[in-house]
Amino acid sequence: MNLAENTVLITGGASGIGLALAERFQRAGSTVIVCGRREDKLLEAQQHLPGLHTRVCDVAVAAERVALLEWVQQAFPRLNVLVNNAGVQRRIQLADDEAWEVRRQELLINVEAPIHLATLFIPHLREQPNPAIINVTSGLAFAPMALAPIYSATKAALHSFTISLRHQLAATPIQVLEIVPPAVNTDLGGAGLHTWGVPVNDFADSVMARLAAGEQEVGYGTSEEIRRASREQIDARVAAMNNR
Ligand SMILES: NC(=O)c1ccc[n+]([C@@H]2O[C@H](COP(=O)([O-])OP(=O)(O)OC[C@H]3O[C@@H](n4cnc5c(N)ncnc54)[C@H](OP(=O)(O)O)[C@@H]3O)[C@@H](O)[C@H]2O)c1
Repeated sequence: MNLAENTVLITGGASGIGLALAERFQRAGSTVIVCGRREDKLLEAQQHLPGLHTRVCDVAVAAERVALLEWVQQAFPRLNVLVNNAGVQRRIQLADDEAWEVRRQELLINVEAPIHLATLFIPHLREQPNPAIINVTSGLAFAPMALAPIYSATKAALHSFTISLRHQLAATPIQVLEIVPPAVNTDLGGAGLHTWGVPVNDFADSVMARLAAGEQEVGYGTSEEIRRASREQIDARVAAMNNR
């Protein structure tokens, strides 16, 4: 894809991977809008990247997704790229007693929201030049980490949906792309949990260069290995990651 001259909406773009993608789209000459729930993080992002546009939005709420599209169509009628990046990760024990409404949030944010947003935005995107939908999944889509069982399942679902979406939209101008991060040093799941991950800037430089070169599904380091792995290699990774 061409990284320049786009108008890009990045969900969850005020921090971590989304912010790094925003910076690179801006640097290449695109207009970028980021949304998220925390207004203070959006303001912080705007200070970091002057010219960044922001919108408070909770993508877990269906009505807020519809309102986001309506707002974008008014304020940025030339929006041509949707990046489904917002995500949460919860490390839980499934046998523990926990309210379903709490557990369900991960499904709403990581699966329902990107699927709904993608389908909501199709009619708008297909009328724009160089349209694209970019979904951010995870290496855990290919090899689940039992410590984050719902999270891993949500990313597998989003990876599968991305492939189907690409096939369904093949006859339209909309490109469907997937970024498959490995562990990246961000605040995902809470500060300090991913400090062992790869630096976010190295990761973002690599995946954006590969998207610019025309690749449709891009990983980095271990996620590049796992997205290309055989079933035997996946089984070995799952066993090693889950201490068996
Ligand atoms: N870091 C990793 O190791 C890693 C690995 C694989 C995949 N990923 C994926 O990369 C994506 C970005 O994560 P990250 O690592 O950059 O973590 P992050 O810094 O925590 O970013 C997640 C962003 O999503 C936003 N968000 C969460 N729930 C939201 C909601 N209901 N509505 C709107 N925005 C919401 C957060 O903002 P608010 O809290 O203000 O809403 C935050 O800005 C996620 O999809 C994650 O699953 C990350």
